[in-house]
This record gives sequence, C-alpha cells and structure tokens, in this order.
Amino acid sequence: MKDLDDILEIAAGYQVSKSLFAAVEFNVFNSLSGKGKTIKQLSSELKLPKRSLFRLLGVCTACGLLKKKDGKYYNSKAAERFLVENKPGYIGDFCKANNNFLYNSWGKIEEIIKSDKFHSVFGGKGDTIDRVAIDPKIVRVSHKAQHNYSINPAKELAEKFDFSKYKDLLDLGGGSGILSIMAVKKYPHLTATVFDFTPVCEIAKEIIAEHGVEDRVRTCPGNIIKDEFPKGADLILISGILDGYDEEGCYAMIKKAYDYLPKGGGIILKESIIDDGRTGPLFPAIFSLALLIETRGGDSRSRGEMSGWLKKAGFTGIKFTPLHEISGSYRALGIVTAKKA
Ligand SMILES: C[S@@+](CC[C@H](N)C(=O)[O-])C[C@H]1O[C@@H](n2cnc3c(N)ncnc32)[C@H](O)[C@@H]1O
Repeated sequence: MKDLDDILEIAAGYQVSKSLFAAVEFNVFNSLSGKGKTIKQLSSELKLPKRSLFRLLGVCTACGLLKKKDGKYYNSKAAERFLVENKPGYIGDFCKANNNFLYNSWGKIEEIIKSDKFHSVFGGKGDTIDRVAIDPKIVRVSHKAQHNYSINPAKELAEKFDFSKYKDLLDLGGGSGILSIMAVKKYPHLTATVFDFTPVCEIAKEIIAEHGVEDRVRTCPGNIIKDEFPKGADLILISGILDGYDEEGCYAMIKKAYDYLPKGGGIILKESIIDDGRTGPLFPAIFSLALLIETRGGDSRSRGEMSGWLKKAGFTGIKFTPLHEISGSYRALGIVTAKKA
C-alpha cells in the first residue's frame, strides 16, 4: 500500500465495477462496435435519458473503456475486443453474472464473515455447485459467464500443454466444454469427454456442435464425486473444480483420478493460483473470499497444496506452468501437471 490515492481508488472500486456492469447491461459497447456515436444518438438508440447516460459514459471514458473525439464516443481497443457480444473474447456475460448474482451477496460480506457460513447467491437452499446441478435456468446464465471466462485460458492451455502424448481426455466438470474443444481443435488425433451434471452437458453439447467437433468431443452426464468416471481416458483435466471443494474433497478427487488412470497417464490441474502464504495475488485472494460466500468448503488453491495432493496420491513429474500470455496475468492462472508412472 502506497498512499492516500491508492486507498481512495480501492474505496471507489465498487462504483467503477458497477459502472462497467451498467454499461454492459445497457449495451453501450455493442452499440459502439465499429463506429463512433454522439450522446444524442446513443441516448435515442439505447432509450436512456441523455443526462444520466452522459455521466455513465463519463466514468467509462475516465477509466479507459471508451474514448471521446469530436463529440463522438468510441470503444477502446480492449472494449471492442472483450465487451462486444459475439466477439471471440467476449466477457460481458461474466460481467452480467457478477452484476446479477454476486454483487448483492458481496453487499452482505460482513454478515457472511461473521456467520462463517456460505450464502446462496442464487436464492433458495444450496451452494453454487448444488444449484448448478439442479436448476437449468441458473445453469444457462452461469455457464454463459463461465464460458466467457474460460475461452482465453482454453486457447492458452491448448498452446502450452503437449497433448500429443495422449489419446483421450477426460474433462472433469468440463462445463461448456471449451477446454476440450480447443484441445481437440489443436490436436486432430485427440478425443475428449466432458463429464458434468446433466443440465451443463446440454449446454456443452450446443457449444461442441457450434465448434463442429461433435465427432471428437462427447458429453457424459454424471456426478464426478459419486459416479464412476467414463472409461478409456489416458489424461484427466480438472479445471476450476478444486476451488469449489474442501481439502478432503480435492484430495479424494485427485486420488480417484490416480486410481482410474492407466500407467503413463497424465493429469492437469488448472486454477487461479494463490500464493502458499495466501497473501496474493489480488484476484485469487478476492476469489477466496468469493468462494467463502458461494461454496461450503471451496477456496483458492495454491501450487503447494495441489502439488502435495498429487504427490500423496502417487503422481510423479509434478510441474507448474503459468497461463499468463493469452489469459492475461491478473487472474494468476496456471496449471500443475503430473504423471502416473
Ligand atoms: C467453475 S466451472 C469450470 C468449468 C470448466 N472446467 C472450465 O474450466 O471452464 C465448475 C464446473 O464443475 C462442475 N461440477 C462441480 N462439481 C461437480 C460434480 N460433483 N459433478 C459434476 N460436475 C461438477 C460444475 O457443474 C461446473 O460446470
């Protein structure tokens, strides 16, 4: 921490993020895609009062999401790339999920910390994992967000991990299937199975078909904890799953993977990785608090924790690779990989 300015910037953080969410919800970035518009044009097109919209655009311009020239607003390069719907890097659904589900829960953070209990961000009983398992409406919204979130890491995983040594990938809790999709697109010999809850598999099927890889990526509905893994894989991917379970659950999943794999099989653990001392980086530290809100026993995972579970289960050749180039460094994403000797 440096000075007063830093403290003030942190204090205003919720106002800046809420301004971004509002601009996404109001389709500001979609409307400005590829062309500049005046406040008058935007106000009439978006059906928003000129006076209020002008102030929202002021925040978006001040924080670099928009530019203004000769009376017209334009998307910044980053907004054009990541905040315009249907662009390959779109993260607007991730912003909307933060706005619609998480924002209100964060408003109760003191209460949640005092009670030391999770809080259902979707209303009703059950944590995020339970609700995703049972409620098809929630699944669709939350998985659009997860899909946005995972596109760039999926591309980077396919670039950085050598899938050439393996034939068949089992993607545990594979979500939209995007990690498997990118891997099979890069490696034409590879096949994959997305193993997730039934409503999630329905969405994955649509996305797999959109990418035209139905012949090589299949879905298998089921519970990765309670059900037997579908047979035949020589590589297991566990991406964004360990953060949803407590330590005992994480180790049990890794041990189950070890017992399942043939000799020479491989495992990839992908997470937003917190320091072993749990003091940063900022995103996994925030995520750790978010998981306190959303899950019963979930937490950000560290390299030390993941390596320890792999070693204890019997894996060897444990290696860490950061995923910072395509995914950006803010999320502190990385993979811990290992083999069954
Ligand atoms: C955070 S998402 C990650 C999705 C995907 N692996 C990715 O990285 O984009 C977690 C996924 O794990 C699935 N999941 C969690 N626990 C599960 C369980 N017990 N059985 C099946 N799927 C599970 C959820 O349904 C969800 O799709």
